[in-house]
Amino acid sequence: MTVTEEPIRDYPFEPFRGELPQELLKMVHTKPVSRVRIPDGRVVWLVVGYPEASLVLSDPRFARRNAELVPDAQPQGCPVQDAGAAPEPPADAEQCPAGQRQLSMDGKPHHDLRRLAARAFTARRIEAYRPRVQAITDELIDALMAAGPPGDLVSGLVVPLPVIVTCELLSIPVADRDQIADWANDIMALTAHGQAAAAKADAELRAYLLRRLTARRNEQGEDLLGSWLSTQAGSDLSDAEIVGLAIAVLIGGREISSTSAGIRALFQHPTALRRLREDPSLLPAAVEEILRYTSVSPMFLVQTVTEDIELGGHQLRAGDGVMAVPWAANRHDAAFAEPDRFDLDRPQNNPHLTFGFGPHFCLGAALGRLQVEIAIGTLLRRMPGLAPVTPLQDLPWRDERINCGLAEFPVTW
Ligand code: HEM
Repeated sequence: MTVTEEPIRDYPFEPFRGELPQELLKMVHTKPVSRVRIPDGRVVWLVVGYPEASLVLSDPRFARRNAELVPDAQPQGCPVQDAGAAPEPPADAEQCPAGQRQLSMDGKPHHDLRRLAARAFTARRIEAYRPRVQAITDELIDALMAAGPPGDLVSGLVVPLPVIVTCELLSIPVADRDQIADWANDIMALTAHGQAAAAKADAELRAYLLRRLTARRNEQGEDLLGSWLSTQAGSDLSDAEIVGLAIAVLIGGREISSTSAGIRALFQHPTALRRLREDPSLLPAAVEEILRYTSVSPMFLVQTVTEDIELGGHQLRAGDGVMAVPWAANRHDAAFAEPDRFDLDRPQNNPHLTFGFGPHFCLGAALGRLQVEIAIGTLLRRMPGLAPVTPLQDLPWRDERINCGLAEFPVTW
């Protein structure tokens, strides 16, 4: 260590309760790159500036290969192919043969697999799913309204909606959904017995999906498995890769915490809430601003530097770990005027990093947006008196799981 270097701080700076600390928001402009020690003991580069975070998320010199999850390391809706017990990618992922590719790889294997996977995620297919997402949302809100007020938005809507949506997209029979949710929970759990439970759940889920895939070959269907099976006919996409993609969707698309974080932000900004209630056409812009403004965790994926590179005035070495935090970068005035203001009138192209940036940009972004939009829009329409039951600063956040998010959100209406 040279004399000019500062002591390495522990990160996160404080327990996460829905807001990034003021100190971190200041660092976005004053210290976009710094050294911190994360909860698992590793010392990594913390990247919070917008240009720097965009580079880390998109440049091949910051690899996802060897990217490891640390407590709270991924946002909701994030890929977890590299979590739990998924088989380790080969040391040199560039050499990975077709048949064993995963979205968590880098370079050509990722690019090729992603191109095949994306054929199932056309904007038209996702938009066609809108009435189904609306119907599922309505059923869940019916049940909340029948049992309350009060009611818990998290267990009543935020958790079940994406589980049902992703299971339907993969044509998973209703009777198997609880089992799927249990496996997904085990894969994402951060408990002492977590590693073994995650490995077991991953193996069982893979075996289950392989059986489903075999059964699906004889059925017609417009679901994701059907689409990937058609893709397979003219490509080198393997069964194991399709199963991996299905797991990525089941876990990546699993819990959309932006819905609860968004309702919380609207309660904090009553003028915006009133405008949105009066004019639902503001909803798409409100969703983008919610995605930009709210944070669901102080942590993100830890990537690995593949060659020496300078970033934000620091010399990073090959092998160093780097954690770019999209929600912090979303508060940079290089990309957003008055970045700490929750503003429904931002220009249409809201270039937030909440879905990532570059080659790994969220594959399910359109479906994620659709669910946040329908869930929030329907809550506001059907519950005109929607209000929190407890002070917002007392709401419990999760820290026992890889992705944070509100643990409970009691509301009345
Ligand atoms: C509001 C909801 C969502 C948010 C905020 C979100 C966020 C993200 C982020 C930040 C990444 C990039 C991670 C990286 O840089 O490696 C990502 C990737 C991914 N997401 Fe999402 N996501 C959401 C919803 C969904 C949904 C609904 C699905 C599935 C239907 C999904 C599936 C995926 C997949 C498969 C990837 C991996 C893409 C790749 O590595 O090429 N996500 N997501």
